[in-house]
Amino acid sequence: MRVILLGPPGAGKGTQAGTVAAHLGVPHVATGDIFRENVGQGTELGTLAKQYMNQGQLVPDDVTIAMVLERMARPDCASGVVLDGFPRTTAQAEALDGALATQDQAIDRALLIDVSEQELVKRLSGRRVCRGCQRPYNLTEAPSKKDGICDECGGELEQRADDAPDKVKVRIQVYTAQTAPLVGYYENKGTLRRVNGEQPIELVARELVAALV
Ligand code: AP5
Repeated sequence: MRVILLGPPGAGKGTQAGTVAAHLGVPHVATGDIFRENVGQGTELGTLAKQYMNQGQLVPDDVTIAMVLERMARPDCASGVVLDGFPRTTAQAEALDGALATQDQAIDRALLIDVSEQELVKRLSGRRVCRGCQRPYNLTEAPSKKDGICDECGGELEQRADDAPDKVKVRIQVYTAQTAPLVGYYENKGTLRRVNGEQPIELVARELVAALV
């Protein structure tokens, strides 16, 4: 099964992607995580991506599409994938559909995690992310067991540079202008399912898994 997690910054895509991927037994591919890994390693891709990410803007479509299609061509994605943070523009969605169609494949579900803007801003101001495995936490809603340390890998937790209030504002504007139109795109294809993201994390997970059927 090939699944897309859609939703604004802070909706809970990264929090939920692992659960959905584990349920399906397929990999979780998060474009934001891949970009951040490249930034951390100082690669050419990372240097380019950083310029856009630090402004809260999208990395150009051609770079992002090539990166995701290369990742999806690896053997572990042969039986399915959960895409988190991709596609984010109509051009990306069309490129993805085109590439899948050449293999008689398609996106089976686009799961939209619905969260109000007020809640997004609150969540992102309290978010901390593991420097190692990138698992997200929240100071109030989902704290780590040990202050500042990741439960999964023992890595150090940090605040993302693009979670500064001025960057969050830009990211929400970019989502509204460039990514929200994808809701209609997948609605027209009959693959969209909406889930209320303003519930406890476990309930959101349950609804997402139920929406796969
Ligand atoms: P990316 O990393 O994808 O960021 P995003 O889409 O802005 O999403 P976030 O990671 O901010 O939020 P999330 O929905 O994953 O929420 P989370 O689970 O962490 O992209 C970063 C940048 O990379 C982009 O701005 C762009 O520059 C670039 N990029 C990435 N993909 C691209 C693409 N396709 N094209 C071009 N550029 C691209 O949760 C947020 C917080 O809320 C956490 O603290 C969490 O603990 C908490 N939380 C989660 N669920 C709940 C709940 N139910 N109740 C209470 N708290 C909750």
